[in-house]
Amino acid sequence: MIELGVNIDHVATLREARKGRNPDVIAAAKVCELAGAHQITVHLREDRRHIQDRDVELLSQVLQVRMNPEMGVSEEILAIARRLRPHTVCLVPENRREVTTEGGLNVAGQADRLKAVTADMHDHGILVSMFIDPEAEQVEASAACGADFVELHTGAYANAEGTDVERELDRLHEAAELVLDTHMRCNAGHGLTIRNLRPVALLPELCEVNIGHDIMARALFIGLEAAVGEILDILHWASEDEA
Ligand code: PXP
Repeated sequence: MIELGVNIDHVATLREARKGRNPDVIAAAKVCELAGAHQITVHLREDRRHIQDRDVELLSQVLQVRMNPEMGVSEEILAIARRLRPHTVCLVPENRREVTTEGGLNVAGQADRLKAVTADMHDHGILVSMFIDPEAEQVEASAACGADFVELHTGAYANAEGTDVERELDRLHEAAELVLDTHMRCNAGHGLTIRNLRPVALLPELCEVNIGHDIMARALFIGLEAAVGEILDILHWASEDEA
């Protein structure tokens, strides 16, 4: 079955709206863990607009499942990974004015730097994932940098309408095949919802999906445990369909 990483940034966004303690990000992560999530994903942004250093620190101490920090390639943030040694880091592009991560990382355009960062993370026992658009050039560049995983950006699929949906799904499928051919493991994420997840979950190459916004939006109405549970149900059905 494809594993689920729950991105809890939006819980921190709500807390930071008042700069207080509510809602409790650590409690939210533990609810997701108890509901069956396989991983907790957090984006420690350079501007600290939602997740704070203390959250990452506490999560690294209390989680029983993996913590997957998403991070921009900045020395200050990489130093935190070296110290906390999470299971994986997911390298993402970061633009201060963006509302959310907009496009994939341009690995091909900064291969030397990313190769050095990957080697450095490996020296600290940390696996590296690169968040990329589903393009052959970026997959090949990620493999050449020594990445362990790529996370394919599903935003274009999620935003597609009409016949473009199939086209975007085909792009994801072709990229996922190439990821396996280049001996990496393949994850996916961004913009996935209970409505659009199923076709992605049927891609046989995927190991993990990371989902945040839709789970938190649904949690407002049905509770966090149930919102995680519905996504896990879809992943479970997809694994049975495939078998
Ligand atoms: N994966 C990555 C690398 C991301 O940057 C994000 C958004 O922070 C997600 C997954 C989750 O996206 P969404 O919140 O749209 O589910």
